[in-house]
Order: sequence, then structure tokens, then C-alpha cells
Amino acid sequence: MNNFSYENTTKIFFGEGQISQLAQQLDKQANILFIYGGGSIKSNGVYQQVTDALKDHHVIEFSGIQANPQYDTLMQAVALIKQHNIDYLLAVGGGSVVDGTKFIAAAACYQGQDPWDILANQAEVAQALPIGCVLTLPATGSETNEGAVISRGHTKLSFMSAHVRPQIAILDPSTGFSLSKTQISNGVVDAFVHICEQYLTYPVDAKVQDRFAEGLLLTLVEEGPKALVEPTNLAVRSNIMWAATQALSGLIGVGVPHDWASHALGHQLTGFYHIDHGKSLSIILPAVMKIKREQKAQKILQLGERVFAITQGTDEQRIDATIAATEAFFKEMQMPVRLSDVGLAEKDIAPLLAELSRLHHTNLGEHGDIDLACSEIIYKQAL
Ligand code: NZQ
Ligand code: ZN
Repeated sequence: MNNFSYENTTKIFFGEGQISQLAQQLDKQANILFIYGGGSIKSNGVYQQVTDALKDHHVIEFSGIQANPQYDTLMQAVALIKQHNIDYLLAVGGGSVVDGTKFIAAAACYQGQDPWDILANQAEVAQALPIGCVLTLPATGSETNEGAVISRGHTKLSFMSAHVRPQIAILDPSTGFSLSKTQISNGVVDAFVHICEQYLTYPVDAKVQDRFAEGLLLTLVEEGPKALVEPTNLAVRSNIMWAATQALSGLIGVGVPHDWASHALGHQLTGFYHIDHGKSLSIILPAVMKIKREQKAQKILQLGERVFAITQGTDEQRIDATIAATEAFFKEMQMPVRLSDVGLAEKDIAPLLAELSRLHHTNLGEHGDIDLACSEIIYKQAL
């Protein structure tokens, strides 16, 4: 196991009805900006619960954060913050709203010339406004982590800072009862792939991290399909929500190598062709597993044995069976596993490679050996 330091300071309130905690948890002296997306919270009752809890607080609203939040929209919120002397941000929605709020929090305090530098040049985030969040879509783990992914046109970039980790996160699984099947599936697969990015590399004798990761994967494999057929089963939703949070809270990623190639390649599919984040991953991860099967062999075998109960055959046969089981799980979740499943063909790959090149994303993966030529092979494998 590699050396690490670990801290996660987010205070979590988990379970049905926990939105009411906002009344006590948020300072009544604060000027709060209540940030949300395109309106799902108005039709599922979450907006009402939040406004009820904050009836004695000073609150201004900012709505319209898109899925894959756009820089220009976020900068409008930054202007509002300066105008109204806002000193606390409350994000209510999915990962896009939480990520967008993280960028707003950092940009509002940024002393440099252009806040885009936080993303484009990884400019230091020296301070940020405090954030609380109410999560309505289990998927990204953004609710307790330091990361955010922001889009500008078709460019998707991320930044990380301890200053933007939410101070509180309200996780009420029943808020997800209004999710469409496709959003449920996107979330389950995103969480599954987050675990793989931190697990499916090479062994470093990190037994705790491995077994936590396998427990989370097993939970998603068991509960994900149930969520599609029992849309209001609170126990199922609770297990998925907690698994998605822990998939990218930082805990399973300490002291182990990380991959993140599927995300880097997937982000280009979202940026150029508007493929949902989760679907970009269900297409790319199997291709990464196939192309990197030798380097990842030991962990693919371990995944096969401990998550999919694949114990028979030669190593090569078990690796094939594990990749097939991963694809079968994605298909069971009604997700695409090939570029052709979302109407993309070989001619669509060139812009993705050009963007990877422009962003200098030319040394991806746990060994830093996924260069442009290898990325092309992976995209072609995914056709
Ligand atoms: O905007 P509204 O109206 O709220 O609708 C949203 C949106 O259209 C809807 N939705 C959310 N909760 C709902 C709901 N609809 C009905 N009922 C509910 N309870 O779902 C749609 C998608 O929401 P979005 O927030 O975009 O989804 P998700 O949580 O999957 O977030 C995706 C974004 O997170 C980034 C992705 O790149 C993408 O931009 N990621 C962030 C990470 C992080 N911060 O650590 C890691 C991830 O790998 C990921 O890259
Ligand atoms: Zn993801």
C-alpha cells in the first residue's frame, strides 16, 4: 500500500426527511444563494422542502445550471454573489449542480484575472465560499469530495480543492424517486466506474481498499437492476445512494494507483456528442479493459472472482468472462456498451483525439502510457 493522508470533513445527514436539517445547520445570519438546475426539484417536492426549512433564513435563488454545467452560466451566479453580498452557497440537485456550485464558490473568491484559469491552468484556489448540498441524484460522489467537472463549449475540464468540499451534504434517497430510468442507470454505472478507476489497476496489497471497493461494486450489481423495476423501493435507493457517495468520497482511493482513462476519454464523448456522462463510461470502460487486459490482469481476475463469482477456466478465459460480465451488467442497466449503440462511427473519433491532444491528455491511465495512439485504439475498440 502506498503512503497517504486522508481527511473528509463533510457532515452527512442521510435518510428520508433529512432536508429539514437545513433549518438548524445553516447560519441564520448568512446570505444564502440557493442554486439549482432545470426545475426537477420543483416538480418532485424538494424545492418546497428546502424553502420550508429555510423560511427564517435570508435566501436568494439562482437556477438554470445545466447537466454538464457550463462556465458562462456559472459566471452569472458569480456576478449575483458580488451584487448581493452572498456568503454561503446551497446546491440542490445532481452532480452538475454540486460541481457548478463548487466552481462558483471558487470563482467568487478568485483573485487572479480570469477564473477560467482555475480549470484551464489549474490556478490555485486559495479560498472559496462555504458550500452545503442537497443531493437528488446518486452518481458522482461530488457531495463529499473535492472535485468538480465544468464544461465550456465542448471542452470539459476539472479542478480539485479542499476549499470546495461541501461542509454539509443532505442525502435523502427518496428525492430520487422522480429520477427517470436512464438517470438511475447513469448514476449506478458512474459509481461503478468510479470504483473501477481506483480498483482495476494493479495490486499493491491494499486489502482494506480492495474489499471496500468490492463491497461497493457488489452492492451496485445487486441493487442497480432492482432500482429499475422497483422505482420507489427506499431500501434499494438508500443502498445505491450510499454506495455512490462512498465510491468517490476518497476513502477507497487512498494508497492505491488510479486509472481515470475511461473518464478522460468519456468526457470527450460528452463534450462533442452530448453523450450522458454515465453512458460515456459504459461504452469506454469495457474497451479499456480489453486493450489493457495484460497490465490489469491480476485485478480483472480479482474483480471476476470476488464480484462476479468467476472462478473456472484459464486466466485468459476468466478475464474474457469478467469483461463480458461487466458489459452484461451495463446492458442489464439498459446502458450502451458500444459507440454504435449511440449512433457514433469511426469518422467521429478524430475530433476526440484532437481535443485530447490540445488538452495534453496524452499520458493517461495508472501507468501514464495511454498516449494518443492508444486512445485511438481504445475508441476503435469501442466501435
Ligand atoms: O436540472 P434538473 O432539472 O435538476 O434535472 C437533472 C438533470 O437534467 C436531473 N435530475 C437530478 N435529480 C433529479 C433529476 N430529475 C428527476 N428527479 C431527480 N431527483 O438529472 C439530469 C442530470 O443531472 P446531472 O446533475 O447532470 O447528473 P449527474 O449527477 O450524473 O452529474 C453529472 C456531472 O457530474 C460530473 C460529470 O462530468 C457531469 O458533468 N462528474 C463529477 C464528478 C465529481 N465532482 O467528483 C465525478 C464524475 O466522474 C463526473 O465526471
Ligand atoms: Zn464519473
